[in-house]
Amino acid sequence: MTTNRKQQKTTIETHKIMTETENNHKYTQNDSLGKHSHHRAAVKMLPTFVRATPDGTEKGDYLALDLGGTNFRVLYVRVVEEQQKVVKMDSKICSIPQEMMLGTGEQLFDHIAQCLGEFLESQDLKGQTLPLGFTFSFPCEQKEIDKSILIRWTKGFSCSGVEGQDVVKLLKEAIHRRGDYDIGSVAMVNDTVGTMMSCGYRDQSCEIGMIIGTGTNACYMEEIKNVKRVEGEDGRMCINTEWGGFGDDGSLKDILTEFDEVVDQTSINPGVHTFEKMISGMYLGEIVRLLLVKMAEDKLLFKGETSEALLTPGQFETKYISEIEDGLENAQKILTALGLNWDPVDACVVRLVCDTISSRSARLCAAALATISNRIRVNRGLDHLKTTVGVDGTVYRKHPNFSEELQAAVRLLAPKCDITFLVSEDGSGKGAAMVTAVAHQNVCFLGFFCS
Ligand code: BGC
Repeated sequence: MTTNRKQQKTTIETHKIMTETENNHKYTQNDSLGKHSHHRAAVKMLPTFVRATPDGTEKGDYLALDLGGTNFRVLYVRVVEEQQKVVKMDSKICSIPQEMMLGTGEQLFDHIAQCLGEFLESQDLKGQTLPLGFTFSFPCEQKEIDKSILIRWTKGFSCSGVEGQDVVKLLKEAIHRRGDYDIGSVAMVNDTVGTMMSCGYRDQSCEIGMIIGTGTNACYMEEIKNVKRVEGEDGRMCINTEWGGFGDDGSLKDILTEFDEVVDQTSINPGVHTFEKMISGMYLGEIVRLLLVKMAEDKLLFKGETSEALLTPGQFETKYISEIEDGLENAQKILTALGLNWDPVDACVVRLVCDTISSRSARLCAAALATISNRIRVNRGLDHLKTTVGVDGTVYRKHPNFSEELQAAVRLLAPKCDITFLVSEDGSGKGAAMVTAVAHQNVCFLGFFCS
């Protein structure tokens, strides 16, 4: 397809999405940020209590915890003011077995406390009470920087007894059950916020954080006067949009396909995080698999035959999409490994299917990002906004042309915004330390809990 035709197609398709996102924009203005109306909003727009991006004067030693996928990480991070940098001193990764993702909250937090304890022991840090940034990449209603109630699990987690509870309290209880070490003040951080903050240290115009990985989400700096749920008129606060929930009120039903519906129905959280299920790495492979099965059944592929692997949910991994789009040879290897009887035309069609699904994901993200950028522009009464988005996530990083496609669509949809994209360097680790450092610095300034 020529660039022009492709652009035309992008414009037509995204127009529909934009209409939805514009409606959503009005919706968020009226409902999500409102004092009494936010409970019914699909896009939660959660206040994060992060009131400032870094100004480069932050410093100190911090611990960071990162939970958001199948691995859990502990980090020891030093923020060095003079060199304007964040140094990762050391880190440890602990896996979270599948049974633990579906077990009890107590088991999960005991495992986290154990992993942290082993790390502190290995670093000879057990006697210290360092401030800790906890990147917990799930939707949380934050009451304060150190009080964060889990609204719901996403991305395959479903531990009992955690939804509706304060995650900081559960972490501290697990540490106290052990009794062999303690931690200092805690700052709760969503991964989007960590990403924005880690990029903000390098580029102070970074005011949006976006993740397109196993899950998807974005945060941005909002004028406090618009956040009716938080006291104050002056300054800004970072809002965790939880855009993955867009469509949970049925507003995306016109663009959902039969494949999206199956993905939703067979997930562990049907009916929620509709937008995320159309976009993120946890689901893209499965959408492609369902499409290929349907095309084979309709005799449009593989001479009408399927294979056991193709018929098994989860067997078409999201990383195959990137590999297949990267080259037809990869497509052929993957189709052979999936036990399919393919010919060269099949390989080309499969590549086209992958391209369709990843492009749809990129354009949906672009529509949502364009809405946020325009909102910031309008908030500030500007004709033109120049801003930076800190980005992370495997889909954005690893797919051969996802980032280009997303950026091209944002340029079309937000022509008055000049957006620079900055890939974050370990936002969930170093970024969490940065949030803690900024929070610590501000709190110290006011004369509270300084070490
Ligand atoms: C979570 C968000 C998170 C995103 C990216 C979503 O499932 O709800 O809190 O930021 O995944 O990790």
